[in-house]
Amino acid sequence: MADLFGKSLITTQDWEKEWLDEVLEVAKDMKKHRYEKPYTELLRNKTFLMFFYNPSVRTRQSFEAAATELGGHAQFLEPKSMRLKSKGKAGETIEDAANVMSRYGVGLGIRMLEDAIEEYGQGDELLREYAKYGTIPVISMAHDKYHPCQGLSDLMGLQEHMGDVKGKKITLMWGYSSMVRSWSSVQEDILLMPRYGMNFTLAYPEGFDLDPEVISKAKENAETAGATFEITHDRFEAVKDAQVVYARHWMNPLRYVNGKDADRELSLKYKDWRLTKELHDLTDNAYYIHPMPVDRGNEVDDEVADSPRSIIYDIAENRLHTQKAIMALTMAKGWR
Ligand code: CP
Repeated sequence: MADLFGKSLITTQDWEKEWLDEVLEVAKDMKKHRYEKPYTELLRNKTFLMFFYNPSVRTRQSFEAAATELGGHAQFLEPKSMRLKSKGKAGETIEDAANVMSRYGVGLGIRMLEDAIEEYGQGDELLREYAKYGTIPVISMAHDKYHPCQGLSDLMGLQEHMGDVKGKKITLMWGYSSMVRSWSSVQEDILLMPRYGMNFTLAYPEGFDLDPEVISKAKENAETAGATFEITHDRFEAVKDAQVVYARHWMNPLRYVNGKDADRELSLKYKDWRLTKELHDLTDNAYYIHPMPVDRGNEVDDEVADSPRSIIYDIAENRLHTQKAIMALTMAKGWR
């Protein structure tokens, strides 16, 4: 059993697979024994600090609930109520803030998405800087590159419904939306699912490429696990025989340069990229997953999102359990 105490989690790719297995095992047990000891005592009187540079529904609520259920408290902070350096503005350095936060809490969660940065990679850099200077674990609550808690919750949901996911086909399909969505959740799954042996198909219209380094790493992950990794611009071909289908919008790479309206305009060309019942019928009765919020009627039809094969609520619930497991393993010493 690995000792994960004190470890930061910026992406699952930074962690050994055995460590991720441990999180999933603990999360599943916590789900079964939600209000039982020792779990309810692990963070007794301890504080988890949260910096939210961007809004959230699930992430904030599930982290707050997670801290409460572990016997502690999660404290919510927004940059507008702090005096931190950001977007070139003068303020407190990361080094100082990270050191001081380490004196108050047992962990620090940070959400930093596109609207809070000027170019891709700045959010990831900032989280890693906090982790470098602080002495408590830093947990990504979604940033420009990754969303590890979402990835683990997706995987937990798939394992609950399918058992071992090795050899199963997952299709991640771009879906139309005007919401101009982050790369964080999709890139996390692109890396994580092939590590568990899932055959991964990525489908998107021309112009919506993701981070080439992530794609290259995902291909390596697939090869190591004996799985396949394919990219196509044909959504009909992509969903054929899929056992899991994940349809979601992600922004085009020029969003940082050209802004959100330009992304909306480009996306409009592909309004027909929607997971319809007809498209779902081409799959192998696939489970439908999405990190939420779902843009119903655009990314996916209600008929699919509300079908018995949709496991979006199970996965949303799993955010609570995986985050409890991550907090317990990285922030509570010697209980396992
Ligand atoms: N999936 C997810 O991170 O949801 P929120 O943006 O609502 O937190």
